[in-house]
Amino acid sequence: MKGKFIVFEGIDGSGKTTQLKLLGDKLKGRGLPVLYTREPGGTRVGEAIREILLNPAYSDLVPRAEALLYAAARAQHVTQVIVPALAAGTIVLCDRFLDSSLAYQGFGRGIDISLLERINEPATDGLVPDMTIILEFCAEDGMDRINKSGRPIDRIERETRAFYVKVGAGYLALAGRDAGRYSVIDANRPVEQVHKDVMTAAEGVLHEIITGNSRA
Ligand code: TYD
Repeated sequence: MKGKFIVFEGIDGSGKTTQLKLLGDKLKGRGLPVLYTREPGGTRVGEAIREILLNPAYSDLVPRAEALLYAAARAQHVTQVIVPALAAGTIVLCDRFLDSSLAYQGFGRGIDISLLERINEPATDGLVPDMTIILEFCAEDGMDRINKSGRPIDRIERETRAFYVKVGAGYLALAGRDAGRYSVIDANRPVEQVHKDVMTAAEGVLHEIITGNSRA
């Protein structure tokens, strides 16, 4: 695969989307091919599944069904969007991927991590990010941001502070399993400072593409 797959992870309100856009704008400014995408979603089917997953009306959705729906949306996304973009040499910046399932459904809801890894095998089809950037952010402040955003609060965002504390700790545990592939960045700082660290982390994996591009 010729492109690079960079994933942003973190609790709700951690500033992932802002940081993903800032990085993407910088890379595009250097003439590099960039694709923004997100989970759950990124495809027509995935966006329909997202509607179910985030709709507060489905408050009775059981954790295993929730995990399977996230995995189903992921299978569609990997096949239709991510793999073709990587094959075309694109830098894919993805808002959430498998680690969201491990952190939210695993550490947050208490589903066994190895079960989640098994149900996600057909979803990722072996695709592993080149780099996963985890934005570490205070659970309290994340919830505060969501509540002050003025938009409707979705089904997951209705969770308790204790849930978000577990999810945040889960991300750090995941990063601890494979330090090389993760970059944990303190997001409890001004946007520009966080962006600097995101840029440094991304340049680590984009080195070849950046130098190849400037030679071209
Ligand atoms: P996100 O798009 O980040 O929400 P928003 O646009 O509101 O910031 O993610 C949607 C929600 O889905 C978020 O609360 C995290 C949750 N989620 C999981 O629980 N498991 C998963 O596998 C994924 C991809 C997301």
